[in-house]
Amino acid sequence: MLTSIKTHSLTNKGQELGMMYFRVAIILFGAQLLMGLIAAIQFLAPGFLFEIFDFSVARMVHINALVVWMLYAMIGSTYLMLTDETGIEVVGIGLGKLAFWVLTAAVTVVVLVYIFIQIGSGTEATIWFINEGREYLEAPRWADIGIVVVVLIFYWNVFATYMKGERTGIMTVMIANLMALAGLYLAGMFFTDNISMDQFWWWWVIHLWVEATWEVFVGTLAAYALIKLIGAKREIVEMWLWIEVLMLFGSGILGLGHHYFWIGTPEYWWEIGALFSALEPVPLIAMFVHVLYDWGKEQGVAEGKGEGKSVIANGPAMAWIVTNAFGNFLGAGIWGFFHTLPQVNIYTHGTQFTAAHGHLSFFGAYATILIGMIYYGIQRAYSVERMKATFKSKMAIFLITFGVLGMAIALTIAGYEQVLVERAELGADWSAFFAAQNLPWYVQAQLWRAIMGVVTFVGFVYLVIDMLTIGKNAQEAEA
Ligand code: HEM
Ligand code: HEM
Ligand SMILES: [Fe+2]
Repeated sequence: MLTSIKTHSLTNKGQELGMMYFRVAIILFGAQLLMGLIAAIQFLAPGFLFEIFDFSVARMVHINALVVWMLYAMIGSTYLMLTDETGIEVVGIGLGKLAFWVLTAAVTVVVLVYIFIQIGSGTEATIWFINEGREYLEAPRWADIGIVVVVLIFYWNVFATYMKGERTGIMTVMIANLMALAGLYLAGMFFTDNISMDQFWWWWVIHLWVEATWEVFVGTLAAYALIKLIGAKREIVEMWLWIEVLMLFGSGILGLGHHYFWIGTPEYWWEIGALFSALEPVPLIAMFVHVLYDWGKEQGVAEGKGEGKSVIANGPAMAWIVTNAFGNFLGAGIWGFFHTLPQVNIYTHGTQFTAAHGHLSFFGAYATILIGMIYYGIQRAYSVERMKATFKSKMAIFLITFGVLGMAIALTIAGYEQVLVERAELGADWSAFFAAQNLPWYVQAQLWRAIMGVVTFVGFVYLVIDMLTIGKNAQEAEA
């Protein structure tokens, strides 16, 4: 067991590379929010930036930046913990840095192309050079191939370090899961002009990422972080991790059926999707229990210092990770379960209800814990034993969480109105769609979403200022 190695206040090469990824992640997170605000204003004033920066582009950049910043933060977190878990330096650090710069240059080019070349007909050439047209994964084909190469380098680095160093349970789960996570990307890469087939495979990436491999990934992060932050026992967090792996893959893989209800796939998916996706919240509840259980344990601070359970090595990181437990449960578990049965989904499908779930789940299950990991990275970068939450840390977590929750509630109300008026009453045709969007409940909900979006953004500004200052201040206080 590696708990005796005292790496908690030391910097290492992997952790430094991780910080490079974290910086880009935060910049992209900011870009995501700005694009969301533009799209939200366009819901209220459809003429806003019309033909200069259309809704379709703002929305596309919003959700692609979301996926990319999260992948950056995941790679950063992996590099951050690699040396701690294996006991050795990352084997190919130079190659890792090269891959970072190649990826970052490619992402920059792709985003600039999205912003400057917005419209035109779709051809074979545009698939290669502009946009692949698959929601959340719109990178053009050249970038797709580049991403695969960069990810292979990353995976090789993690795998080779794991093979050479010590092999903890956390790392074993991570190695196996990363292979699945990266491999799934391939399912979204080939083109077919049959829209049902296209959607069928596209969901393999999106659903099997967020409801299986990403969940297991953040499970490994939570296990690692709980050991570091509150000195949780490795045997206990690892035991939970294995249980989650088992349950998530069980429910997550066949739960895929809840996206096959209305895309032209056979009807047996109704039963399969209903049953297995309804089971998906079970592991999410287990995860929730897991964090709270460890929280209450009489363990010392990180690395077994034994100062009692109230000592937390990193206040803001811990706060974000606890928010993750609640957020995952609420956004994925509760909001996901609401619309997962085909009897319900036939009414809610593609309404703002889906957007409410999308916001709350991506935020609750992923943004939260990744922000927590970035805070932990900062503590390591400044080699401080303890990093307490500042006023800015508290404002950031409060405003961002309150803002996203507010947006999700507003969108739920908008979705509810769509279900009742557009779907149930007016028969779900084209004119019903527009009629429902002009009713006061819908319009007001969209207004509240925009207001709560601004609250979220103010919280983000606090977050950035805090991240830029908290490490140095903690270092000075310690000295
Ligand atoms: C952290 C985990 C999750 C994330 C990040 C997530 C995210 C999303 C997103 C973004 C969409 C919209 C996709 C689109 O653009 O069409 C979606 C759809 C959906 N999600 Fe989740 N989800 C998660 C977990 C769950 C769980 C656990 C359930 C069920 C219990 C669930 C049920 C659904 C259903 C039924 C849809 C389809 C909605 C529709 O028909 O319009 N999700 N999810
Ligand atoms: C400033 C705050 C934000 C604003 C104003 C905002 C606004 C928007 C808008 C207008 C859309 C398009 C919805 C539609 O097509 O009906 C959207 C989609 C989406 N946003 Fe945000 N957003 C914000 C923050 C976030 C955050 C923090 C996350 C997650 C961490 C997120 C995740 C998503 C997802 C997953 C979708 C696609 C949902 C779907 O298709 O069902 N957004 N957002
Ligand atoms: Fe799903």
